Amino acid sequence: MSDWQKTGWRRKPRVQMPDYTDAEALNRVEAQLAKYPPLVFAGEARKLKSQLGAASRGEAFLLQGGDCAESFAQFSADGIRDTFKVMLQMAIVLTFGAKVPVVKVGRMAGQFAKPRSAPTETVDGTELPSYRGDIINELAFTLEARIPDPQKMLQAYTQAAATLNLLRAFSTGGYADVHKVHQWTLGFIESEKAAKYREMAARIGDALDFMTAAGLSSDKQHELQTVDFYTSHESLLLEYEEALCRLDSTSGKWLAGSGHMIWIGDRTRQPDGAHVEFARGVQNPIGLKCGPSMTTDDLKRLIETLNPSNEAGRLTLIARFGAGKVGEHLPRLVRAVEAEGANVVWSCDPMHGNTIKSSTGYKTRPFDSVLREVKEFFAVHKAEGTIPGGVHFEMTGQDVTECTGGVHAVSDEDLSDRYHTACDPRLNASQSLELAFLVAEELTALRDTRAGEAAVSG
Ligand code: PEP
Ligand code: CO
Repeated sequence: MSDWQKTGWRRKPRVQMPDYTDAEALNRVEAQLAKYPPLVFAGEARKLKSQLGAASRGEAFLLQGGDCAESFAQFSADGIRDTFKVMLQMAIVLTFGAKVPVVKVGRMAGQFAKPRSAPTETVDGTELPSYRGDIINELAFTLEARIPDPQKMLQAYTQAAATLNLLRAFSTGGYADVHKVHQWTLGFIESEKAAKYREMAARIGDALDFMTAAGLSSDKQHELQTVDFYTSHESLLLEYEEALCRLDSTSGKWLAGSGHMIWIGDRTRQPDGAHVEFARGVQNPIGLKCGPSMTTDDLKRLIETLNPSNEAGRLTLIARFGAGKVGEHLPRLVRAVEAEGANVVWSCDPMHGNTIKSSTGYKTRPFDSVLREVKEFFAVHKAEGTIPGGVHFEMTGQDVTECTGGVHAVSDEDLSDRYHTACDPRLNASQSLELAFLVAEELTALRDTRAGEAAVSG
């Protein structure tokens, strides 16, 4: 892309980014990061793009999930393992239940910077700058903690590198071997869905035993023993993104070296703004959050800017309207995409449009609304004859109580028990599994309906 430079975003209007007070300290950090190795390799981003291309055609399904915000304080091997494990479980439910290959993308190894609804926060009459994620400032409610510190980018890079290292080890070192499908169950989930999962795992075990007995498995062993697992985050802190941006010698194209996929948030998607400018020039798959304020005209412009050559897998549109609002917004955007003939993956984020304040004062999301938004998303695609290509959600493998409802019926009063998120409320493991079963059912029902229609018309 000859009209693009990695610094070009600096000449565009920017929102949601910190004002660093010490320019010299910032420059030093940027120079240091620019010397560090990129976290991902361009070939991996291209492979993900081709798998997302399959999802755009309905030949695969995108499962994207993880923390709202990764945290320095809660960084642990167990946390990474448990989130990875829940993603594998969900993928098994989708692969086995809906018979579709699943593209697994974590909100991990870089998901540190957060857009906020207000620049400041007031507690008991004291007003301080808002917390913007551990890569920028600290959650503690003191002025010192809330001052943006560029040094934190180095800690975020280190944590991202260590996280990715463990994820790579889990993905290829034997942990993700499908023969171990029974062992991915998390100790604390005891529910109807957990029983359903165990039953599915037993059937998979039988199928694998049969394949081995019949001598069918040997040449495909490698595929069953490893998984492709990708990383993603919101590309919000552009100084960090620019410093990790690299020219890929194989393709001669730029790569955001900070993660395999990056996305543009609902608050930073101005067609002439800094965030769109940065994303348009890198070859990674790009996500674009689409909330109720997304106009049809803006969407068309953004598609043209972000994917001018209409490459399949390049652009994932992440719809996040809120339960009850999908029918009002998704059809007009779906029709605009169809009218343009644009190749996109339609993904559903049933989290960000459903955040409320609970009666006990916690920010929460009713699990029923999450499920309802997913159903509405599928219903629109069914009616429009288009393809639901994925889901995007905030979850953790830890047994938290952040979203109300689900099989264990977390109540407003329960929220205080284990409310650990640094930002938005996440689904816990059992709620995530329940969501996966719902998605598998919706996908299966849609496929059966379309097969029925094809049989009638054929
Ligand atoms: C997020 O994904 O954490 C987020 C802030 O989303 P959105 O931009 O859709 O509000
Ligand atoms: Co969030």
